[in-house]
Amino acid sequence: MKTIGVLTSGGDAPGMNAAIRAVVRTGCENGLRVLGIRRGYSGLIGGDMFEMNLRSVSDIIHRGGTMLYTARCPEFKTQEGINKAVDVCKEVGLDGIVVVGGDGSFRGARDLSLAGIPCVALPGTIDNDIACTDYTIGYDTAMNTIVDMVDRIRDTTESHDRCSVVEVMGHTAGYLALNAGIAVGATSILVPEVPYDFEKDVVGRMRRTQKTGKKHFIIIVAEGIGGTMEMAETIERETGVESRTTVLGHVQRGGSPTVRDRVLASEMGHYAVKLLMQDIGNRVVAYKKDSIVDYDIYEALNMKKSFDMEIYKLAHEISI
Ligand code: ADP
Ligand code: F6P
Repeated sequence: MKTIGVLTSGGDAPGMNAAIRAVVRTGCENGLRVLGIRRGYSGLIGGDMFEMNLRSVSDIIHRGGTMLYTARCPEFKTQEGINKAVDVCKEVGLDGIVVVGGDGSFRGARDLSLAGIPCVALPGTIDNDIACTDYTIGYDTAMNTIVDMVDRIRDTTESHDRCSVVEVMGHTAGYLALNAGIAVGATSILVPEVPYDFEKDVVGRMRRTQKTGKKHFIIIVAEGIGGTMEMAETIERETGVESRTTVLGHVQRGGSPTVRDRVLASEMGHYAVKLLMQDIGNRVVAYKKDSIVDYDIYEALNMKKSFDMEIYKLAHEISI
């Protein structure tokens, strides 16, 4: 392994820059040539890459987004796209690649590894929807952003005796909603993993707490549930409490990464290069039970992520 590349793919996540920094610095310090590939697999297919050195990654550890940019590249899902990428790797002498992204990006890394270019994937997504790891890069920052935003929403919700329905990201998963929901003391948390009855689990809970003197309410809804706008109208009609909906949107994807995300990304980036240096590819780096470990990508993609029902129940028991 003489030359490695690094790319970020799919939705960006805070901490991707810290991961790029760790890859570049570990590679350079171990005598490797490191190429930064712009805009994910699109840049790989198009040969859009540049040589990086220790100073190329100065002053990025605290920045959100990704200095390498990111993209979604439908062409990479085809055999033709993979073949083009392999040709580019051979042409520029790329011996291995670190891919930072979500499970879609992992599939690309697996296909490229099978085609002869060893890839190591790092979980980079705010959704934390990757089964093989307890934490993904960006998740902690996004949760903290949500909590910060909802704390502000709470101020005005309380002043007006209102109910705020807040939609948070997570794609089809409810991990962001569950944990942020606990942290803001939401009256109800709706997630795709748990079936709900709006009348009982939202309106009913609000009525119950109204009887104990509660006058303002926060309802956290994962985007995978849908119909958030209509929820505020239903609540207002059913409870008489004036209601508003806020869709937090892409504010959740930006911002300076938290300590946890910076450290996680740094450890994972370093670990990935050490794997490539041993000519080991087709692996995902993960964080399990306080340790950094790695799995076969195929195995990782087939794992099923559990949803912590105990915490879900606890959240509702204490937010009443
Ligand atoms: P994420 O990595 O955040 O899950 P996507 O699902 O959009 O985001 O995937 C990012 C990119 O990974 C896609 O645009 C595509 O280039 C590549 N990719 C996704 N799925 C596959 C697949 N089945 N085979 C090969 N490449 C894939
Ligand atoms: O996967 C990260 C994420 O922000 C999801 O939470 C969301 O569903 C999706 O990406 C939005 O993607 P975009 O707006 O970039 O297409």
